Amino acid sequence: MKTGSVIALFYAAALLSSCAGSSVSSPDGSISFRIDLDKEGRPTYEVSKDGETVIENSALGFTLKDAAPLESGFRIESIEKASTDTVWEQVWGESRFVSDRHNEMTVHLQEKASPNRRLDIRIRVFDDGFGFRYEFPEQENLNDFAIMDELTEFRFGSPHKAWWISRKDPYYEGYGKKTGFTQIDTAYTPFTIEGSDGRFYAIHEAALLDYAKMNLVPLDSTTLKAELTPWSDGTKVYAEAPFKTPWRTMIISDTPGGLMESRIMLNLNEPCKIEDTSWIRPGKYVGIWWVLHKDEYTWYYGPRHGANTELTRHYIDFAAENGFAGVLVEGWNKGWEGNWMKTSENFSFTEAYPDYDFDTVMKYAGSKGVQMIIHNETAANLDHYFSQIDEAYTLYSRYGMHYVKTGNVNLLIDGKEEHDGQYGVNRLHAIVEKAAEYRICIDEHEPAMPTGVSRTWPNLMTHEAVRGQEHDAWEKDGGNTPEHTTVIPFIRGLAGPMDFTFGTFDFENPKYPFCRVNTTLAKQLALYVVIYSPLQMASDAPESYEGKKAFDFIRDVPCDWHESHVLDASIGDYIVTARRDRDSEDWYLGAITDENARDISVKLDFLDPDAEYTAQIYADGEEADWKTAPTAFRYEERSVDSGDILPMHLATSGGCAVRFIKK
Ligand code: NOJ
Ligand code: CA
Repeated sequence: MKTGSVIALFYAAALLSSCAGSSVSSPDGSISFRIDLDKEGRPTYEVSKDGETVIENSALGFTLKDAAPLESGFRIESIEKASTDTVWEQVWGESRFVSDRHNEMTVHLQEKASPNRRLDIRIRVFDDGFGFRYEFPEQENLNDFAIMDELTEFRFGSPHKAWWISRKDPYYEGYGKKTGFTQIDTAYTPFTIEGSDGRFYAIHEAALLDYAKMNLVPLDSTTLKAELTPWSDGTKVYAEAPFKTPWRTMIISDTPGGLMESRIMLNLNEPCKIEDTSWIRPGKYVGIWWVLHKDEYTWYYGPRHGANTELTRHYIDFAAENGFAGVLVEGWNKGWEGNWMKTSENFSFTEAYPDYDFDTVMKYAGSKGVQMIIHNETAANLDHYFSQIDEAYTLYSRYGMHYVKTGNVNLLIDGKEEHDGQYGVNRLHAIVEKAAEYRICIDEHEPAMPTGVSRTWPNLMTHEAVRGQEHDAWEKDGGNTPEHTTVIPFIRGLAGPMDFTFGTFDFENPKYPFCRVNTTLAKQLALYVVIYSPLQMASDAPESYEGKKAFDFIRDVPCDWHESHVLDASIGDYIVTARRDRDSEDWYLGAITDENARDISVKLDFLDPDAEYTAQIYADGEEADWKTAPTAFRYEERSVDSGDILPMHLATSGGCAVRFIKK
């Protein structure tokens, strides 16, 4: 799977003096990361970009339970450096190949006085950012330990504005807001900064495994500090050396699009651990889902039960006719009666309601070449889920089914710990490894924030962790704002695939008239290109798509890409994204705008210069407006080449989706 070459140069600088520091630069020399020890032997780091300091004098280290903090009194024992320049291939992704070109430095710290504990800091600097992590080597005086606080700081030289989602929004399902640092309570990462220096910075983490999620709190108008999600007893992380933390990452870019094109997070995760990945396939799906959220049908058994054999067959037929890979059915299994969040132990993951003939449905789907995306709502009761998981996954795999959508609705996992505390992270990850044993791919709702672990476990295909389209069905505040999808790709989107589930054509919900889908029809289409997921839902009921030209785009658009580029964007205003299909020479483009209409011109210079293309353009109609005429829509075909400029009119909360078919 690996192509290219790895060049590793190791050298150790022995026993440097206690005040010494050392730095490592990106391969192109534009970013430099320096670690220093002050007079007290306190390590700090500093980052410069194009010769300008962008992060200054920022703290590193830990406070521990019943032990002295690991934050000062150090000397640098040795330093190792290495370089990597390689290209690896993704099982699925926004780009087929990923270049991993970085310089690495590991600083081995040792306390000068007893107990002489050791702590390593490993740094990797890429041309578009950096990552660093702490490693606790095996040692005599630090075995089992409990981290009470991670002291990592991000101290910017000047005040910046940031786009962030508040930790007050459960499951990360909140809006991104833009404020100065002092207005932040506790922010999730990814955390995106529009710098007063004109640069864009995004702070996140990579490889969150056996650790607590990093959140950010402001110390003052220029400084952020890591704030790990605690256990219920207040401890942040229980550890045993040798032990390593996730990578703390920062993308630095001149454009917002550069944040989305960075692959630092993936590069900082371990390579794929699944040998045969042939069963891990991206694809689109439909499902008995939107009709449940609109309350046309119920999850629980009764006169309006949605998950019945007949309706499911109808969805399977629709999927097969239109080349969709999968069908999701929610409410097929016993246990949805009453307040299921409180009665999660009633959920069965193997027994279906009487009107859902599990065997018939599975066989029918199989005969049509359609995968069932089997829904397992755990209500965050993972003790209960694990008591059935082997039996359930054995059953599903017996029918050759490879997809499970998990859901973990409830604020605490197993009634005691947060989703992204160390316990939740480990419990949720255990599902992924268990699923891999059964060749099952996971679409994870109410997860811990993704951090690129899908590189290692590509059966972890997509996540929710976003205020997705379901909020348009029932949310009291009126549904997602027109601006939302122009913001979210630059915050949550940087963490990986989002199961946002757009593709709704029927915007109103008679049951809940206070909310609706706040976009135009063309914007629903464009979102398939703008928002990335290797599993992509067409959320509406088959009837809503009947006879609609716009549906052709959803039918045709792939969800696995050879390459992806953000052509133009302004966070919270608009985005124009182009992606090339992984399996053909066709390109797809999606442009979306917020509540403001705009006219844009898109240079088609991403197309092959030696080819002509038929552009199938799905645009907002002349009178389109998200409030008054959301379905006004126009389809046009024209011949284009890479020298052309395509003018587009985007209506209020509108969009434009284009397929470029190579002639
Ligand atoms: C919330 C999930 O995000 C949604 O997709 C699902 O339908 C419900 N929980 C029920 O499990
Ligand atoms: Ca705006």
